[in-house]
Amino acid sequence: MATENIYILGIESSCDDTAASVIHNGSILSNIVANQKIHEAYGGVVPELASRAHQQNIVPVVDQALKKANITKDQLHAIAFTRGPGLMGSLLVGTSFAKSLAYGLDIPLIDVNHMQGHILAHFINEEGFNKPPFPFLAMTISGGHTQIVKVDSHFNMTVIGETIDDAVGEAFDKSGKILGLGYPAGPEIDKRAKLGNPKAFKFTKPKVDGLNFSFSGLKTAILYFIQNETKANPHFIDENINDICASIQYTIIGILIDKLKMASKQTGIKHIAIGGGVSANSGIRQALKDGEKKFGWTTYIPKFEFTTDNAAMIAIVGYLKYLEGDFAQQNVAASARLKI
Ligand code: KG4
Ligand code: ZN
Repeated sequence: MATENIYILGIESSCDDTAASVIHNGSILSNIVANQKIHEAYGGVVPELASRAHQQNIVPVVDQALKKANITKDQLHAIAFTRGPGLMGSLLVGTSFAKSLAYGLDIPLIDVNHMQGHILAHFINEEGFNKPPFPFLAMTISGGHTQIVKVDSHFNMTVIGETIDDAVGEAFDKSGKILGLGYPAGPEIDKRAKLGNPKAFKFTKPKVDGLNFSFSGLKTAILYFIQNETKANPHFIDENINDICASIQYTIIGILIDKLKMASKQTGIKHIAIGGGVSANSGIRQALKDGEKKFGWTTYIPKFEFTTDNAAMIAIVGYLKYLEGDFAQQNVAASARLKI
């Protein structure tokens, strides 16, 4: 088995982004993502439409990734794909495609856990970005997950806290829906929050034991707050949108940072990384940076393009597994609820 000059193709199709990336010895040669605009009209991802769109996108996306990397498929050493967690119909498209390609090229197939991908994206070689030393804490914050993970080595990870209901990305998206913002609302709330007063409105933080999170109560509190206010003033949302967004974001970030502080104290670990779509949020990025001065943390914040779903994070896990000879068999099955 070759150990030098390794080219890995990564394929990601767990939700509504079809993505492919080629990585060479841990450095990105290409990172292509096709977003599925079709879901915007429905205010959320429609699983059946997502799998159909993956089916249409996957060949051109993989083709583009190879072209951009300036290699042919015969130069690949392995195919890495997202096995789960995610939407079953979406996962099946990437899984079946990866299996067929690996079989056709007679090269190893590597299964990747999507959440490990969000964490191990920190191990992509990127100028100006340090890799976290072990052990470190990783907070994965996305539309589907909210977890605090203790990472002892590349493949030895323990979830020490997670949401008991909604994910933090859902808290952003569902709040945005109440406010009449488009889907996904996270980036829009972030943009408006920059123009508003974070202390204009106060939302109580949920009381959840230990390192676990809960966001469904916050969503309900926001709904009742908006219903009450708009009864008194029908233009309340329009007149206060920036302050409302800033206050919601401030509350959500407070919840995340409180738990991170607790996790750092309990474990004694001060190296803190974030990953997942919500780590694109400017407020959480700033709060983490502030944690360096306030709590003595060293923080690891991914490059913007590796925060939301992408295949570079799948390819890097593929590369790390390739070095360990950790391959999947052709009978490997996609798993919607795959655990770390
Ligand atoms: O990781 P990701 O692309 O997909 C999942 O695996 O879920 O995360 C998508 C989530 C969405 O909920 C979206 O609203 C949120 O990430 N998001 C943000 C921002 N950018 C994306 N939330 C807050 N602020 C942002 N700037
Ligand atoms: Zn994700």
